[in-house]
Amino acid sequence: MKQTSDFLVIGSGIAGLSYALKVAAHGTVSIVTKREVSETATNLAQGGIASVFSEEDSFEAHVEDTMKAGAWLSDTGIVKMVVESGPQAITDLIDWGVKFSRNEANEYDLTREGGHSQRRILHAKDMTGQEIERALVAAAEKHPNITFYEHHIAVDLITEAKIKHRRVKPDRCLGAYVLDIENKEVITFGARITVLATGGAGKVYLYTCNPDVATGDGVAMAYRAGATVANMEFMQFHPTTLYHPLAKSFLISEAVRGEGAILKRSDGTPFMAQYHELKDLAPRDIVARAIDNEMKIRGDDCVFLDITNKDAAYIKDRFPNIYETCLGYGIDITREPIPVVPAAHYLCGGVAVDSWGQSDIENLFAIGETSCTGLHGANRLASNSLLEGVVYGDRAAQKSLELITDKQSPFPPIEPWDSGNATDSDEEVVVAHNWDEIRRCMWNYVGIVRSNKRLVRALRRIQMIQEEIADYYWDFTVTSDLVELRNIATVAEMIVRCALERKESRGLHYTIDYPETDNIHWKKSTTVCKVF
Ligand code: SIN
Repeated sequence: MKQTSDFLVIGSGIAGLSYALKVAAHGTVSIVTKREVSETATNLAQGGIASVFSEEDSFEAHVEDTMKAGAWLSDTGIVKMVVESGPQAITDLIDWGVKFSRNEANEYDLTREGGHSQRRILHAKDMTGQEIERALVAAAEKHPNITFYEHHIAVDLITEAKIKHRRVKPDRCLGAYVLDIENKEVITFGARITVLATGGAGKVYLYTCNPDVATGDGVAMAYRAGATVANMEFMQFHPTTLYHPLAKSFLISEAVRGEGAILKRSDGTPFMAQYHELKDLAPRDIVARAIDNEMKIRGDDCVFLDITNKDAAYIKDRFPNIYETCLGYGIDITREPIPVVPAAHYLCGGVAVDSWGQSDIENLFAIGETSCTGLHGANRLASNSLLEGVVYGDRAAQKSLELITDKQSPFPPIEPWDSGNATDSDEEVVVAHNWDEIRRCMWNYVGIVRSNKRLVRALRRIQMIQEEIADYYWDFTVTSDLVELRNIATVAEMIVRCALERKESRGLHYTIDYPETDNIHWKKSTTVCKVF
């Protein structure tokens, strides 16, 4: 079966939806999404979206905070461009129907998070992402040119090189092979422009506050197609996810610290002053490493986040989702501290793109967490990611519209998916086992504190698993679990390779073998690109 559209968007979070809304007036848009439309990382974002919105704030201050948090690896030009596009991005969201929280004076309420020198985070209580997702999905569903394909997972990109079975330089993207999960059929989606907006890859780690969809599909597909991928060693661990056996790493927003919560040891003593002058509002890499250190030196299972210094009515109104969820686990956050641990949260690396979101394969864009734009450097500043999603949704849309001036030309012929002699597998246990092994290996060997020895060990294990997956892939009918397993293995390998390449500690990459930052040799990105 074959579908064609002008624009193929893979992923339905803030970046993909805002791109779709910008191009839909100019052509047909297919949005492929592997679960239900709102099952995205955007939907889980609590804190908010950073933008300069108050008189006391300035673009310069936001740029400086972003550069500092990113350990000076961010691209200053890109940071400036994104920060200065912030107010327009917020206006776009408001125009699409997003309702941000307001204060008593009926102005937008601005909160603060780690690494920000000013209050500049717009939010919708503690469910900002849910509100954004709601509004954008509603706007997209109304648009006659946008078609959603839920429960469809992209398997691989289709490029000119792939269909000609030879090297093509520069290569050009023609669409993607997509598995219709319910009907177990691989469909050929042809498109003039293909956009990867599949989010991050937290599921590569055993503990993550990402949703189940975060398996790095876009980065893995782009890599397999020959695109350059950058800075994969910079996986951000969120310092505070709920520590509870049933909670599956529920996020406790950094805005809780922004509003005055204090991190404490089990004996009630605060500890962040020992680690950074901004104490509990230090950048995330520093707070996560401090917690990791506290847990290791004391042998504790968690630390505690205490917001009981605030009025109970205020807490319930400002953080209704966190309050209710914790209460559901028997923790009343207005009266007792919250047990917390770090968990994998955000991939700062990804598909290397230019300032318009273009990868080095023609007609292939990557936006949002899937991309590496140069904004986040070695550590993302809190709440800059939703901002990046809207800004690059817009820029990729502008560039796409320039590229499809020859809209009348026919779509090139594409061979349908060849499933060869694949049969249904009776060994699903192998897939489940490999999933588990990769995630444990990454957590234990490629976590918050790294060493060469552990990284080499991880690489060996992951490569063995990849060989097994390769056999499995060609022998058995493709399933979404298998597609995701292949993707997490590919992403895991890239993370380890980049981590081994970077011979220094910077931002989110800390290794005991090179504990210092080396600005002379390493103030640059690491890259990986498949050799054909
Ligand atoms: C949070 O609410 O702490 C998450 C915000 C972010 O990751 O930007």
